[in-house]
Amino acid sequence: MNAPFPGMVVAVPAAVRQPRAARKSASHGEAGYARRPHDAYFTEPWVTRVLLQAIDFASGSARGDTVIWEPACGDGRMAREIEAAGYAVVASDIADWGYGRPGFDFLGAAALDARLGAGARREVAAIVTNPPFGDQTVLFARRALELMRPGGGKVALLQRHEWDAAAERHTLMDRHPFRCKIVLPRRPRWSDEDKASPRFPYAWYVWDWACPMPQATLYMPNPDALPKALGSLL
Ligand SMILES: C[S@@+](CC[C@H](N)C(=O)[O-])C[C@H]1O[C@@H](n2cnc3c(N)ncnc32)[C@H](O)[C@@H]1O
Repeated sequence: MNAPFPGMVVAVPAAVRQPRAARKSASHGEAGYARRPHDAYFTEPWVTRVLLQAIDFASGSARGDTVIWEPACGDGRMAREIEAAGYAVVASDIADWGYGRPGFDFLGAAALDARLGAGARREVAAIVTNPPFGDQTVLFARRALELMRPGGGKVALLQRHEWDAAAERHTLMDRHPFRCKIVLPRRPRWSDEDKASPRFPYAWYVWDWACPMPQATLYMPNPDALPKALGSLL
């Protein structure tokens, strides 16, 4: 596997610590569970499989030679799905959830300059993550787009379905190479503690510096119901 910066490895997953805080989750609604530090809500594996079914991140190269960076990897369940699809994966997170490289602030300019040089930026073909919520979603989108621009790479972020409706986010769509919105076939569940039906629909937002057009909205079926031999749509 090509590591985009020294020491970045995919670690063996360990037990996940999920400390509780007093505040309720604004993003997930008043679902009855405490908001976790760093918005550590980890993504059900099927959500990542929807993205991988829709998008070919290798763009003609071998998947094993295509490096995808999960920069807010949590306990690694998204990174593991990407790796299972045959891609080379590097994983990092600001916190230590037992997977990837901990202590790496994706938004920290100094850390990026020191640890992720221009050569490495070209080597990473795509950044894929479910970032922390609120204002950080836009900061993550901007940073990921900035990093992927030199090498003509892709960015895929999981966000709430209405995320693109906010006026302040339109520049991310109309002044950046927004490629497609992938609507999930059902609402993700964010906590085993939450027994109620999930409240919010989500979608993948995908940008591609190499091929921004035509823009599309994809309504994907359950990926587990599709034949394995079916290729990616875009
Ligand atoms: C909503 S969770 C998603 C985790 C994982 N991407 C997934 O989908 O399962 C957000 C993650 O972002 C991490 N995080 C928060 N701020 C960060 C930052 N500035 N840089 C890197 N990771 C960050 C948290 O520790 C947490 O693991």
